[in-house]
Amino acid sequence: MARINENYLNLMESYLFSDIAKRVHAFCKQHPEQEVIRMGIGDVTLPLVPRVTEAMHRAVDEMGSKDTFRGYGPEQGYDFLREAIVSYYDRIGVGLTAGEVFVSDGAKSDVGNITDLFGRENTVLIPDPVYPVYVDTNLMNGRKIVYLDANEQNGFLPMPGDEQADIIYLCSPNNPTGAVYTREQLKVWVDYAIRRHAVILFDAAYEAFITDDRLPRSIYEIEGAKRCAIEFCSLSKTAGFTGTRCGYTVVPMELVLTVSDGQEITLNKLWNRRQTTKFNGVPYIIQRGAEAVFSEEGQKQIRENIAYYRANAKTIGNTLTKLGIPFTGGVNSPYIWMKCPNGMGSWEFFDFLLENIAVVGTPGAGFGRNGEGYFRLTSFGSIDTTEEAMTRFFNLLK
Ligand code: MLT
Repeated sequence: MARINENYLNLMESYLFSDIAKRVHAFCKQHPEQEVIRMGIGDVTLPLVPRVTEAMHRAVDEMGSKDTFRGYGPEQGYDFLREAIVSYYDRIGVGLTAGEVFVSDGAKSDVGNITDLFGRENTVLIPDPVYPVYVDTNLMNGRKIVYLDANEQNGFLPMPGDEQADIIYLCSPNNPTGAVYTREQLKVWVDYAIRRHAVILFDAAYEAFITDDRLPRSIYEIEGAKRCAIEFCSLSKTAGFTGTRCGYTVVPMELVLTVSDGQEITLNKLWNRRQTTKFNGVPYIIQRGAEAVFSEEGQKQIRENIAYYRANAKTIGNTLTKLGIPFTGGVNSPYIWMKCPNGMGSWEFFDFLLENIAVVGTPGAGFGRNGEGYFRLTSFGSIDTTEEAMTRFFNLLK
């Protein structure tokens, strides 16, 4: 008799953003006359920059010509892209080798797939509120999860206490709260992980939104991090690749765990083994586009798009300030994490906004227990729709 993985029965019925999409779809069907403004899922609206599309067009031509056609590529990514990523890290003083960089179809997949490398018996430490993928993928594997409270008291940046954890998830700039760890705070996390022989899974998907140079863009800016951390990064928000799909994961050679018979195992080797078995790499055309992101011109162009989103974040922040609503994020992050006004619950506020002004956000409760009473807005809309949404928002709540 075939048996299912019954851990799946411990999951919520649907993934947060699918749930929201369903509710919005139902609302649109009932109110076709309403112009709904979506500020829920963090999906970009600006197109790929010219430097990227030019590179992809060239790659399409190569694929259509007998002399330059390519079949299977390396599962870990082409050297040209891995080297471009190494140079990108070089600029912030982080030295990596191409062999430590694995190209993938995005951070979400890798954050989930990395759990393959760890035994069921590990205890996982996850801040709450959090990007739901960390929780759900560990529930799927039946691992014990310990939650760490992120709240107003700690500025949504929880620090380690006496938790007995083996795997730790950190996301900075944070999704959903927009809070960013300082170097000093990350050093405390790195020291804690080294002391416990634990591994930090560091999600740096929003690093490109950091404007304050004192804040770390990579955990490897912290001494000792290569001995205890894996870093995930993505071009989704950085360069508009949410639909194009490309990200990368860094597994340093120095990251070694001791197994039960005393052998020392390099996680880089293990991840390589996993990827070569279960993954056939990212399409060549996409990787050429991704390489272009790291070129001088590509960087200039994507920075202009990020500045555009940043202006939206400012519009949202200004509106909240005028209304006297407390919030975090929006400066070094594309997300604004606001307190629901008048003591409303997260889903209550979601319905209130949708029904009264047809604006969609993400209820904080969808990110965990501590998200109740909060709400997330994204700055990834167009300038026009963001301004329109904030006018409606202000008129509703003033
Ligand atoms: C979000 O809205 O939290 C993100 O877009 C989700 C993701 O990156 O998968």
